[in-house]
Amino acid sequence: MEMATGFWVALLVGILAVVGWLLWWWNDILYALRSLRRTGGGAKLPPGYMGIPFLGEMLTFLWYFKILGRPDDYINSKRRKYGDGVGLYRTHLFGSPAIIACTPSANKFVLQTESSFFLEWPSVELVGTTSLVAVQGSSHTRVRSFVVRAINQPDALRKIALMVQPRITIALESWAQKGRIRVYKEAKKVTFANIGKYFASFEPGLVLDTLDELFKGLTAGIRAYPINFPGTAFHHALQCRKKAMAIFRDEMEKRKKCDTSKGKKDLMEGLMQVKDDDGKQLTETEVLDNIVSLVVAGYTSTSVAIMWAFYYLAMHPDVVEKLREEHTPITKKLNGEFIAYDEISSCKYTGKVVEEIIRLANIAAFIFRTAKTDVEYKGYIIPKGWKVVCWLRYLHTNPENFEDPMCFNPDRWNEPPKPGSYLVFGGGSRICAGNMLARLQVAVLLHHLVVGYRWELVNPNATMSYLPHPKPADEVEIDICRI
Ligand code: HEM
Repeated sequence: MEMATGFWVALLVGILAVVGWLLWWWNDILYALRSLRRTGGGAKLPPGYMGIPFLGEMLTFLWYFKILGRPDDYINSKRRKYGDGVGLYRTHLFGSPAIIACTPSANKFVLQTESSFFLEWPSVELVGTTSLVAVQGSSHTRVRSFVVRAINQPDALRKIALMVQPRITIALESWAQKGRIRVYKEAKKVTFANIGKYFASFEPGLVLDTLDELFKGLTAGIRAYPINFPGTAFHHALQCRKKAMAIFRDEMEKRKKCDTSKGKKDLMEGLMQVKDDDGKQLTETEVLDNIVSLVVAGYTSTSVAIMWAFYYLAMHPDVVEKLREEHTPITKKLNGEFIAYDEISSCKYTGKVVEEIIRLANIAAFIFRTAKTDVEYKGYIIPKGWKVVCWLRYLHTNPENFEDPMCFNPDRWNEPPKPGSYLVFGGGSRICAGNMLARLQVAVLLHHLVVGYRWELVNPNATMSYLPHPKPADEVEIDICRI
């Protein structure tokens, strides 16, 4: 009797061990067999581990990002286990088999070989099918040239620099009056007010507040599971998009009917008027889709950058002093006028501070591409349909690319970065279409901040969270006052 029980227990343990082993290696076995069938044993998959069925390596990823709060150790652990190799690791993340690219050369290969990889937005319905981020090939080149001309080139930036300053100065003054603020929350308000102004000449008020709420719902949906069913975040986001589009369409109709646009030098006007080399204009849908997607791309990212500016400068009073030395003479010369784009662009030290803030903020920790076909890289295969996760964050935090990488040191920008090691704005033809605009907004803020205010962190030892964007837990609470 006892022997029989022992036998059944041993059998059960044996079965559980086999099932556990199979589950542990399931994805690796499955995808290795699939790629073997495709390549006939030629190039092999990069080293790595693909995790358990359905979840893949998501739990490990969350362990490093959410529980340990050491996001870079996710890649470090792979380097320790599988060696540096060619900078590619296989995995299974965000619901798809994937290859991680974590070196400058691997990222350059992926971002610049557009014949082999494409950008696939998870929820195109939310950003608009004709928006810059959603279109491909020649349509992308065409729409991109319109958008870049309207927001990212010196002529546009000169206008925008002056347009954003009234709201920035009013915001700073009101923060100083309050005394204690949460920078992220306030930065979002001022960023959105500025977006409203230079996108569609909206002044603070009901329409702008409504749009702000709608874009919060829309942005939340982009990260949600794409199930269009009442009650889901995705469904809510679609409703928000519809309402936001209606507000912008209304404004567009008014401009067409009453010529109310006279004198308005905003993005909507720019996109409505701009012509390509053949004299062709954007359609109404293209104008509206692009406005909506630009708000999505520029709203949170700029607010996070501003939040980190307050954080790093509060930690480095020596840097604030150097900024003051650069800006105080300009302020005296300006005599109450706003600083011009050309003037702020000539502030060399400020430029370095802005780069350093954006490098360490790692706002876009990773970006995604999909392999169009089976792609071979240095003897390894990236199978068709697999995601490639360009792990930008690791480029900026790897000591092989930046000396003492976690240290905030604007002087490191006395030298250019190693080629391919600085991709905060992505790379290739999809490089951020608002990168100069983002830099400008941070620089303009720094100008007004350092000459007029003093601030300190309420919780200098706040813990960090890393998803969806890196942020201190208190979202940078500060005490701020006039100098
Ligand atoms: C510090 C702030 C910002 C950061 C870190 C940032 C980062 C990025 C990155 C990494 C990409 C590449 C995405 C990819 O290749 O998959 C990107 C694309 C893009 N960004 Fe930004 N961005 C910022 C601010 C802005 C602003 C202010 C705007 C405009 C208002 C903007 C508009 C766009 C657009 C339209 C694209 C898509 C470009 C294309 O597909 O051709 N971004 N951004």
